[in-house]
Amino acid sequence: MKNDIKDRADIYKLVSAFYDKIKTDSLLGPIFNHMISDHEWPTHIDKLTNFWETNLFGIPKFKGSPTQKHIQTDAEFHHNIQEIHFKHWLQLWEQTVTSLYEGDLATRAIMAAHNIAEIQNMVLRRNKPKHKKQFKA
Ligand code: HEM
Repeated sequence: MKNDIKDRADIYKLVSAFYDKIKTDSLLGPIFNHMISDHEWPTHIDKLTNFWETNLFGIPKFKGSPTQKHIQTDAEFHHNIQEIHFKHWLQLWEQTVTSLYEGDLATRAIMAAHNIAEIQNMVLRRNKPKHKKQFKA
């Protein structure tokens, strides 16, 4: 039986393990490593730890704009970020969460990521130039 996520230290451990996977991932690694240089990673991990602390515990720490950052990232990659990228992101996130924790907050971390990913993907789709838009039933 694993423990549930209980505090900032647990989130920090989760976020660090997740981005360790991301950095070496063949689909997502090149995107993240292009946008975040070596010396910026500690700041990114800290920011994402704040993000999840705010999300899971309601502590008002995170100040940022994922939507803006994702739109910039998609533009940098010629509007080629698509649903497969979000799906893969979610797979890695779920793998990381379940390898470390179990319980209500672990489940919430997975569900919240799904909701956010869906919204972020929709925003990117809407912001793409016409010829890059994908049709979805
Ligand atoms: C295809 C999937 C995704 C990609 C490629 C991606 C990529 C990125 C990149 C490159 C940055 C940093 C940009 C910069 O600082 O210049 C970023 C920031 C961020 N991302 Fe994502 N992301 C993805 C999905 C998600 C999801 C699903 C979430 C939340 C559940 C998320 C939350 C955030 C947050 C909170 C930030 C920080 C925003 C800020 O600095 O204000 N991302 N993302």
